[in-house]
Amino acid sequence: MTPRLCGWCLLLVWTTACEASSVTREPEAVSVYTLKNARGMEVRVIDYGGIILSLKVPDRSGHFADVVLGYEALADYERSSPYFGAIIGRYGNRIARGRFTLDGQTYTLATNNGPNHLHGGVKGFDKVVWDVAPFERGDSVGLVFRYTSPDGEEGYPGTLQATVTYTLTDRNELVFDYHATTDRATPVNLTQHSYFNLAGDGTNDILGHVVTLNADRFTPVDSTLIPTGEMKSVSGTPFDFRTPTAVGARIEQVDQQLRYGRGYDHNLVLNKGSDTLAAQVYEPTSGRVMEIATTEPGLQFYSGNFLDGTLRGKHGAVYRHRFGFAMETQHYPDSPNKPAFPSTILRPGEQYRSRTIYKFTVQP
Ligand code: GLA
Repeated sequence: MTPRLCGWCLLLVWTTACEASSVTREPEAVSVYTLKNARGMEVRVIDYGGIILSLKVPDRSGHFADVVLGYEALADYERSSPYFGAIIGRYGNRIARGRFTLDGQTYTLATNNGPNHLHGGVKGFDKVVWDVAPFERGDSVGLVFRYTSPDGEEGYPGTLQATVTYTLTDRNELVFDYHATTDRATPVNLTQHSYFNLAGDGTNDILGHVVTLNADRFTPVDSTLIPTGEMKSVSGTPFDFRTPTAVGARIEQVDQQLRYGRGYDHNLVLNKGSDTLAAQVYEPTSGRVMEIATTEPGLQFYSGNFLDGTLRGKHGAVYRHRFGFAMETQHYPDSPNKPAFPSTILRPGEQYRSRTIYKFTVQP
């Protein structure tokens, strides 16, 4: 049996009143797409931000549950989402003080995270409507998202043609392929910002999830979460996940880096080698396992520290402190200002390509 694409339908219309001006927006259609594979795994996605609304995967006894956090109403995604499920661009993560210099010219970006620029700015790729083209192949089904980011958008130089492909395979893999070209040199660092809770339905914290990270080093940060530039060994620190360790095992240790991040909110420098996984997360009560493979050099492990119980999500769930985690595969934060980090600059004539695979399995 091959996976099925269950078509699309109208999700909602925007009727949100714009508080500042008391103007009501014109209703605008947003489409929801459902991908299903031969083993019953299901992903629901919208064209607004490429947001993954739900992701249903089986536990060790074959029971399916939704393992991502999110909202029921589009208005909530528009109003106050901490990037639930969205594509992030042009630059995932932070750029110090919203400034960088490229080819002798200084560019100024929005400072939307304390003194820094975060996740592409005020209206990043998580808040634009993408063109979507569904496809079906022998053993997979998917969606191609396209967006042209105009020259100067959010302060970034050059017109960027971005393509992000989500593929669901019959091997229970969700594959993200990123591609971009530009007509002027620009930083690019695309990622996906789903929040996971592998126990299902986001009704408990993720501290019991057991994490393995294939990283000997991480990039320590200052108090505003900008890397100092050092690539520090994880040995002897709470960032050593080279052997499987529960998220909660060391998260409350007295440690300056944990204090700055309010928990884990750090970029790991991934070890590279043939066929090595970047990360694995195991949830003991359900047996669900998420394996992450990526072409990217880094991974931001975020333990949902900013969730504080003020956001009400799907099925009335209240997302309390650390009820979800993100594993954002990426280049390192603030690379445009860190010449020693791998470059994030895309130039005309070059192709930006990046691939990340989240694979779902179970342990007995
Ligand atoms: C990223 C950042 C976090 C936080 C979340 C969104 O993971 O590193 O600090 O901003 O996005 O809330």
